[in-house]
Amino acid sequence: MKQHLVIFDTTLRDGEQSPGASMTKEEKIRVARQLEKMRVDVIEAGFAAASPGDFDSIHSIAQAIKDSTVCSLARANENDIRRAGEAIKPAKSGRIHTFIATSPIHMEKKLRMTPDQVVEQAVKAIGWARQYTDDIEFSAEDAGRSEIDFLCRIFEEVIKAGATTINVPDTVGYNIPQQYADTIRQLIERVPNSDTVVWSVHCHNDLGLAVANSLAAVMAGARQVECTINGLGERAGNASLEEIVMAVRTRSDVFPVETRVETTQIVPASKLVSQITGYPVQPNKAVVGANAFAHESGIHQDGVLKHRETYEIMRAQDVGWTQNKLVLGKHSGRNAFKTRLSELGIELDSDEALNAAFARFKELADKKHEIFDEDLHALVSDEVVTPDQEHYKLVYSQVCSETGELPFAKVILNVGGVEKKGEAGGGGPVDATFKAIESIVGSGAELLLYSVNAITTGTDAQGEVTTRLAKGERIVNGNGADTDIVIASARSYLNALNKLHSSRDKVKAQGDV
Ligand code: KIV
Ligand code: ZN
Repeated sequence: MKQHLVIFDTTLRDGEQSPGASMTKEEKIRVARQLEKMRVDVIEAGFAAASPGDFDSIHSIAQAIKDSTVCSLARANENDIRRAGEAIKPAKSGRIHTFIATSPIHMEKKLRMTPDQVVEQAVKAIGWARQYTDDIEFSAEDAGRSEIDFLCRIFEEVIKAGATTINVPDTVGYNIPQQYADTIRQLIERVPNSDTVVWSVHCHNDLGLAVANSLAAVMAGARQVECTINGLGERAGNASLEEIVMAVRTRSDVFPVETRVETTQIVPASKLVSQITGYPVQPNKAVVGANAFAHESGIHQDGVLKHRETYEIMRAQDVGWTQNKLVLGKHSGRNAFKTRLSELGIELDSDEALNAAFARFKELADKKHEIFDEDLHALVSDEVVTPDQEHYKLVYSQVCSETGELPFAKVILNVGGVEKKGEAGGGGPVDATFKAIESIVGSGAELLLYSVNAITTGTDAQGEVTTRLAKGERIVNGNGADTDIVIASARSYLNALNKLHSSRDKVKAQGDV
């Protein structure tokens, strides 16, 4: 009989800590709905005390999600825990995840606390959390570089105080599989009350070992894995959900556990997160990369045609790869459009947003006869923007580009309700358009990344553009899609400018207690 492996998704919290990956409330709700559809057990929806915006997103997700536990992160202090407790209040099942650092370097240099003070603070934190929920997770930040005797001591105390899940993060991605597994095994053996809690792992990918470390820990007794879609996360990222889930499922001969994840929802989740955050998925990425099931060499193709399992250990359709499915066309009505959006887990929260999205769908269908699910996701990404996030709107754009001449662009923007015109020349049509926009906005932001991807195949495909801008401490990604890549680029640039405009200051998750 297999034991249950809890899948704890932290795309909306640790994933969002990737530079520029910050998401709006509406985007977070869409991701949370997809995670629920995929049947992850726990959704870490954010860090409530980080900003009023984060609080609000967690609160809304707690209201919307019924089939997954909704969790908020909190440092081990009273204010953070109260914010987390309030944010998860509407949840059918809510969890508070509190943490404090336990490694000598973090305690001494960052917290400036003695080990005794750290234990005392952790125990107090559990007490505050219990006023809101019985489902309490405790993390020993930088456990991967902490002393095992100290970990045993603090874990025993927080379990006595009421923690129900104990997480052992390899915060800086320093561990290697055998050693990390040994830490988990020792903790389970040595902590006297270890059998009353779920042991959890949270691995970062600095040495490319996050998935290997997590899986080794599962073999040693861990029964919760914290992971993210596409491995998004701080620095080199977190363990990737799709790889953990598919490893456990594909090698069920080896792993004594199973998950409840609906694996056919993996690729849609991956595409959604990539589209929203602007982090593309590398083609050779396991499970969700475009080439993960593509066979190039003749020998492989021949083998697969004769018997699929000669070169494939998983079935593409089991993780949600489908042939591009023609879903709608020029003659589809508003109802068919709305129904397909619902099937994709996309709920537009007002008739106005639906009408605007439908109008853009009709425009798109005129230019591009076949509309696929991917097109709908892109189209709706552009539409799910609330008015306060849309300070700058594209009204008109024109670009002249001919051989031997400098490209020249003209744009009209609606800036907070007032139409403004700008024009500029540039190295190419996109460069000229961005300069024309800047002649109006004058943001002074630095362009860190500009990338274009075709959403589907064919020269009439929509181009999906990601633009990453930096201004002061802030880094944001903007997305835009259109069959005309200059317009897609302008939308993407404006989307990033709108994010810079709606300032959201967050406290650092890994700061003081
Ligand atoms: O990496 C880490 O230690 C974390 C904790 C807050 C769990 O993300
Ligand atoms: Zn982390």
